[in-house]
Amino acid sequence: LSVLVLAGGLSHERDVSLRSGRRVAEALRAAGADVSLHDVDSQLLRHLDAQRPDVIWPLLHGAGGEDGSLRDVLELFGVPYVGTGPRASRRAWDKPIVKEQLLAAGLSTPDWLTLPQDLFRDLGAQGVLTIVSERFGLPVVVKPTRGGSALGVTRVHRPEDLARAMVDCFAYGNCALIERAIDGVELAVSVVDGPDGPVALPPVEVVVDGTYDYDARYNAGRVEYFVPARLTSEQAECVARTAVTAHTALELRHLSRTDLILQPDGVAQVLEVNVAPGMTETSLFPQAATAAGHNLAALYRRLAETAAR
Ligand code: DAL
Ligand code: MG
Repeated sequence: LSVLVLAGGLSHERDVSLRSGRRVAEALRAAGADVSLHDVDSQLLRHLDAQRPDVIWPLLHGAGGEDGSLRDVLELFGVPYVGTGPRASRRAWDKPIVKEQLLAAGLSTPDWLTLPQDLFRDLGAQGVLTIVSERFGLPVVVKPTRGGSALGVTRVHRPEDLARAMVDCFAYGNCALIERAIDGVELAVSVVDGPDGPVALPPVEVVVDGTYDYDARYNAGRVEYFVPARLTSEQAECVARTAVTAHTALELRHLSRTDLILQPDGVAQVLEVNVAPGMTETSLFPQAATAAGHNLAALYRRLAETAAR
């Protein structure tokens, strides 16, 4: 089985992607696959043409990687690849669209509003505060409508911190998602497609000193992970069902990760889905797969073989 792992690229998550790519490439090699890793650049098409692998594993994170554009190229090229198709990737990349789809599928997601940068310029922070207060009040989480690894994300408790949060957010995109902040257990539930349909891996509980930001995600020490999460069997079933429903409703393929908060009242509030979950040493998908008893090498090979068929 020859696998071409695509990683890197030019998004803000380039470094994370290279780390994910190296880990997956190593695991596939350990499983006996013939693997090459390409740091995606303008030579991509030439590279694809020269290699003609059995299957491609696109591990680009962020814009250009998760937004469907690379997968459009792979479709045009006619080489099978691991993961979700371009149209569903495009939808999954856009958080407000994901939220609409989650609601349509009967799931819950924190109340939100979107605010384009131009409107922020017109309204100013005070105007935005008025809208936020009328809608749901503080605290809120401000994040780019499209983005990953918590870049540009701020939890805002005090009115005077909103302007800064908006400006930080607009460094990563021209539209902000302002979401009601939810209290509860922070969980990530990965899903893999099996012969009998999608299966949820054990939920990973994230307990963080401060916020689960870029630094906390990729530098060991500030986060404590509980795998499986400290949940009752009923709660674990609820979040597993939620992730499988999200995976299916959003037409995700082969693998995904759904991030959610389980409220004290038992409602699972879905924050987002990921078509290219991080695969680094500290990432959640590999932790969940290992906890489920999977050998990562064997699991990645199975996913690659499934995609190659
Ligand atoms: N965006 C990062 C890679 C993740 O979701 O794991
Ligand atoms: Mg994400």
